[in-house]
Amino acid sequence: MATYLLPDQDAFYNPKPINGDNQIQTEEQEAYDQKLDAMIATLPKNKGWRSQYIFRYKGFWCSREAIRGLLLIKDHFHPQPTDIFLTSFMKCGTTWLKALMFSTVNRHRYNFSDHPLLRTGPQSVFPFLDTHIFLDYPMTNFDHLPAPRLFATHHAHTSLPTSMTSPASTCKFVYVCRDPKDALVSKWHFMRKLRSKELPPVSFDEAFELFCDGVSEYGPFWEIVLGYWKASQDSPEKILFLKYEDMKREPKVELKRLAAFMGKPFTEEEEKKGVVEEIVKLCSFENLSNLEVNKGGGGVQKFTAKVVVENREFFRKGKVGDWENYLTEEMKDRIDTITRNKLKGSGLILGATHQT
Ligand code: A3P
Repeated sequence: MATYLLPDQDAFYNPKPINGDNQIQTEEQEAYDQKLDAMIATLPKNKGWRSQYIFRYKGFWCSREAIRGLLLIKDHFHPQPTDIFLTSFMKCGTTWLKALMFSTVNRHRYNFSDHPLLRTGPQSVFPFLDTHIFLDYPMTNFDHLPAPRLFATHHAHTSLPTSMTSPASTCKFVYVCRDPKDALVSKWHFMRKLRSKELPPVSFDEAFELFCDGVSEYGPFWEIVLGYWKASQDSPEKILFLKYEDMKREPKVELKRLAAFMGKPFTEEEEKKGVVEEIVKLCSFENLSNLEVNKGGGGVQKFTAKVVVENREFFRKGKVGDWENYLTEEMKDRIDTITRNKLKGSGLILGATHQT
């Protein structure tokens, strides 16, 4: 069962499944984990939405696995100048962007009627760096990936190594963001499915309070978003900031921006041939969520050896404004006020509009 399997229909590279089956615990590994646990024991902790606890590491709440991954990224990940990182707060459109980025970058390799996405689903097309860094023992090797290599991460801009983020680096970032009210609702649904049955469930009211306090995996929401927003303002050529709502409203416009940013603009001829429309259609919620592999047909995302999530969990409603079915007027006002206050003066507006 591969976590991600790069499609093998071409001669560009030899695909290599990353399967996490060789997670051998050596003494060295055990010693590393003991040191990690000793460090984590010194961090402030709070209630996790999936696991029992999350820990505040360098300003952001992370699971033990996410901290482990971040340390390994810092010590062992070697970015290449052409790497592109998809970054997002959880449940803000990662799955959609994975599909769009992969199919755009690889559009000359595959035809749309027999596209690898149709067989694997978006989760499997490129690695989620935060945990895939340690999916293969002792460290996952990403060297075989073709350029530009694509990776996803939920980590904050300031948490990532300077080899990726410094002005000298030519790595690019695509950040996708969403109305925090919809992110909250989506995350609550997702995390409660992943939460161990041995732990008491987290009610929506409790999740709401935690979210407002900034306490959820990779949170606080507003701080992480602002970090990427400011970085995108400083270096627009390096960080593209997208909003889920804009993409729903004008998918073709946003896709063209994305392609140009990634250095793969659509040619006039491609536009005439309807390539933009093809990609939008291929990656649409309606199309992807109805594929067998994303409906319970065996497609999974293996985050760690223990955390394996079925593809279908990444597709729920795919709408803007579902928060209306969960938040009272008072709750809505509270999040909107926090959002306004936190983003004040930044030029970023989130959650102010409502489209379906
Ligand atoms: P909802 O729970 O509001 O439906 P992520 O991919 O970052 O985990 O985000 C998941 C959210 O994006 C879910 O939102 C999911 O339904 C939605 N989503 C998944 N694929 C999508 C697509 N192709 N187009 C639009 N939304 C999509």
